[in-house]
Amino acid sequence: MTDKVRVAVLLSGRGSNLEALAEYKRIADPAYEIVLVGSNVPEARGLVLARRFGLPTWAESHKDMDRAEFDESVDKQMRSHQVEVIALAGYMRLLSADFVRAWEGRILNIHPSLLPLYKGLDTHRRALLAGDEYAGCSVHVVTEELDDGPVLAQARVRIEPRDDPETLAARVLEAEHQLYPRTLDDFCRALRLARDSSVGAPGG
Ligand code: GRF
Repeated sequence: MTDKVRVAVLLSGRGSNLEALAEYKRIADPAYEIVLVGSNVPEARGLVLARRFGLPTWAESHKDMDRAEFDESVDKQMRSHQVEVIALAGYMRLLSADFVRAWEGRILNIHPSLLPLYKGLDTHRRALLAGDEYAGCSVHVVTEELDDGPVLAQARVRIEPRDDPETLAARVLEAEHQLYPRTLDDFCRALRLARDSSVGAPGG
């Protein structure tokens, strides 16, 4: 078995999912290793958490750049840290089509709904308004369409009669913290197996 899969986490805010991804190695021996935490928001709390975990960070504001230019800068960081997989964790910025194509099949995202329901924002309020019995979260592969790529795993959370968007969001977030590390681990384990078998294969 060769090295761990090199993962970058991109975030824009609070960073609770980053925390869950980083903490996971206390309870498991994950197939991934976080080699960089990047952000388009230099003051994001998630970067403070990353530093507490001793993880390398990179941040640059996107404000004075167009999307393509900013994503080129992100791409450069990914390559200089030899990143293999990108995990979006509250990264509030649409990725350019060129960037998604360059990293096709190697960007994951966690979304707070049972996709394909409620793509985009305000998912908990929408689930409550629709009278759904369950809310939840999904980890999916990122494609050019927003919140649209193949779903790798989901967790359901029952909606209680007294729920409001905040109480529901809090319970779904707990489910996210369980789901994302396990799913990223499974994804990286499969990638590592494929990598190892192609290294050994004739002509590989
Ligand atoms: C989470 O709800 C996640 O599903 C969504 O953005 C939020 C990020 O939260 N994509 P955090 O920054 O990880 O605490």
